Parts: sequence; structure tokens; C-alpha cells
Amino acid sequence: MKMRAPVGVAVLGSTGSVGRSALEVIARFPKKFRVTALCAGRNAKRLAEQARRFRPSLVCLSEERAAARLDGLPRGTRAVFGEEGMTEAVCAAGARIVLAAASGVSSIRPVIAAAKMGKRIALANKELLVMAGEFLTAAARAGKAEILPVDSEHSAVFQAISGHRREDIRRILLTASGGPFRNHTVRRMRAATVSEALGHPVWRMGEKITVDSATLMNKGLEVIEATWLFGLPPSRIDVLIHPQSAVHSMVEYRDGSLIAQMGIPDMRIPIGYALSYPERLPLELPRFHPHRMDGWTFEPPDFRRFPALSIAYAAAAAGGTAPAVMNAANEAAVGAFLSGRIRFTDIAGVVGKLMNGWRRESRSVTLDDVLRADAEAREEAERVISRKRSTGR
Ligand SMILES: NC(=O)c1ccc[n+]([C@@H]2O[C@H](COP(=O)([O-])OP(=O)(O)OC[C@H]3O[C@@H](n4cnc5c(N)ncnc54)[C@H](OP(=O)(O)O)[C@@H]3O)[C@@H](O)[C@H]2O)c1
Repeated sequence: MKMRAPVGVAVLGSTGSVGRSALEVIARFPKKFRVTALCAGRNAKRLAEQARRFRPSLVCLSEERAAARLDGLPRGTRAVFGEEGMTEAVCAAGARIVLAAASGVSSIRPVIAAAKMGKRIALANKELLVMAGEFLTAAARAGKAEILPVDSEHSAVFQAISGHRREDIRRILLTASGGPFRNHTVRRMRAATVSEALGHPVWRMGEKITVDSATLMNKGLEVIEATWLFGLPPSRIDVLIHPQSAVHSMVEYRDGSLIAQMGIPDMRIPIGYALSYPERLPLELPRFHPHRMDGWTFEPPDFRRFPALSIAYAAAAAGGTAPAVMNAANEAAVGAFLSGRIRFTDIAGVVGKLMNGWRRESRSVTLDDVLRADAEAREEAERVISRKRSTGR
């Protein structure tokens, strides 16, 4: 009997939290997967270590200077850099799956190019759909590519809708742990430190997404992500706070049935499913025992204490460049909070200020418009942040 060759995977963001978990899954199943390319931002040391272990054809860093620091690459591994390098990495013939887990929006054009070629996109980087959902989904349709969610909530929804008719769905319920400040007053949140904001009660993730989980902006980004992945308007995507994080999300149908997916909070499960779909990998992780849980609670989010969530719903409904502006302002504001330049509660303040100044476009937007809006919003957000610092407000 002929053995099937391992499927080639290009990993974007390989040095990050999702990327490293993905490499663990890939390493466990060498007969199923092989790494064709590894891409990261600036971490040359870790990328070179990963290259020695996984022996990809290409490694890519965001800048030439960083790529020049890649020491001790194995024979057969070539270093490239920037958007062009990343595009080469994802479009190479051997890469059948692209795991999009680089933070930020730098991978948007390479991922669109891969989708147009019909590669499977295992998507962790929700910012790509938030900013450019229209263009990425159109590219996937044109190339007959699948976009499979890696975000645990969207993976849960994807599993709960498989085999069901779209017209039978009443709504999607995305669950959220509520983050470290779930029960905090606004006053207490105003004084929150960076280390408190990074103390997520359930998940260990990169810093940016951990802060987004504390403001609930992460859930707002996920609402927008879900509109593109599942083709529902934001009014039919609700958020439920579920601190135990056992139920990863649910779908409600018109006959009143709710179908939920649950399990331990471990990113290797949705990553593995996106890589191996429709097969399930024998991951051999600790098992989930519902009867050992102390009690599950579900409550609606408090939009007053967590204004970022309302801003995201408004941006989702507005469309055009609104989600891109919101996302860019949020990235700038989270960066400013992490470097001690603004307070935790200023994050939503900065984003809200930019959204108040946003004007609806009078025509349909292009990807270039979106990228321009992203760049301009980052600059404007930096100005708002500097003013906040100088006035102390
Ligand atoms: N962590 C989770 O559990 C989780 C769950 C769901 C979704 N996500 C999403 O997955 C994405 C990654 O999250 P994360 O938590 O893994 O982030 P992270 O730990 O901060 O890692 C970010 C990764 O992106 C790379 N990167 C940064 N700038 C880049 C650029 N210009 N070009 C190429 N690569 C670049 C980083 O490389 P360097 O190390 O060189 O900086 C790193 O490999 C985010 O969009 C996040 O929202 C994460």
C-alpha cells in the first residue's frame, strides 16, 4: 500500500504562542505534517533554533537586518525577509497549509495570495479577517481555499455548525472567560497594572491578545471574525461570560436546540483540528471531565464597564474601514499601555476617540484603502496617546 506523504505546512508567527503550540503538534505527527517554512518578526535566535529542529526550506523574518542575524541554519534552509519573503514562503509548491499566526497585519497580502492559490488557511490571526475580511474571503472563494479557524471559540462554532443548514441557525454565542478584571469596578480597572492585565485566569497567550482579553476587545474582534467566517450579521452573534472556559462557544438553532463544543482550554486542540480537518488527531492531552467541574455559569457581558465590546459591535455594523481603524487604534493603545504610557482604561478611550472621528466612505473600499486607513489610524492614535500623556487625561 502506498503511504501518503506528509502535508507541508508554512507556519507564520512560529516563534509566538500559537506558532510554538502548532510546532508541538506538528512534531508529534511527523508522518502527517512537515514544516516547509517558518516566519517570524525579529526573533532570529528562536527562529534559527526552530529551523535546526524542523529543517524547512525557507525561514523568513520581517526585516533584512534581522534575517542577517540568523546563525547556524541547516543546509537546505534559505533565509528571506519582509512581505516578499513571506509571500514566497506561503506560495511555495510544498506548502499545502498556511498557519496564519503572526501578530498584526503584516501577513495580509501573503495570506491573500495563498488563499488565491487554494491553500488551506488555518487562521489564528483574527486581525486579518477584522481588517480585510471581504478581501480574504473573496480570495478564498476564488481559489477554492478553506479558511479553518484556530481561535478556540470559532473552532467550537465551526464544529457546532458542521452538518447543519445555515438557514436553521438563529444565532452564535461566543463565550468569554471575562478576563482578570471580570469583577472589577471601573475605578479599580483605572489603576490596573500591566502585570495584572497580563494575568489571564485561563489561557497563556501573547501579550497583545492577553490585554485584549482583559478589555474584552478580543471578544469584539472575535465577533467581527465570526461575521466573516460564518456569514452572519453582528446582531446574530452574542457574547456570554463563562469564567470556567469549559464551553468554547455554542450555536443556537431555530428549533431551540443549542449545540456547544467543550473541552480543556488548550490551543493544541483547535490548532490540531484546523491542520488535520476532517480527521481528529490522537493528541493525548489531559481529558476533560465535566463532572469534576464546580459549576458552570453564564452571564451577559457588562458593556458599560467594558466599552471596547460596544465599540467593536458598532465597527462591525459600520463596515468599510471602520474595523481596520478600530483594530489599528487598539494595537497602538495596547502597545502604549504595555509600555506604561497610558492607563488600562485609556485603551478603550483612545479607540473610542478614533472611532468618533471615523467617517463612513461614500464608495466601496479596496484593500489599499483599508491598509491606508490602518496606517493613518496608527499615526492618529499615537497623537491621541501623546496628548493624553502630556495632559495627564
Ligand atoms: N495565543 C493564543 O492563544 C491565541 C488564540 C487565538 C488567536 N490568537 C491570535 O493569533 C495571533 C498570534 O497570537 P500569539 O498569542 O501567538 O502572539 P505572540 O505570542 O505575540 O506571537 C506573535 C508572532 O508573530 C510574529 N510576528 C510579529 N510581527 C511580525 C511580522 N511583522 N512579520 C512576521 N511575523 C511577525 C512574532 O515574531 P517574533 O517572536 O519574532 O516577534 C511571533 O512569532 C494573534 O493574531 C492572536 O490574536 C492567539
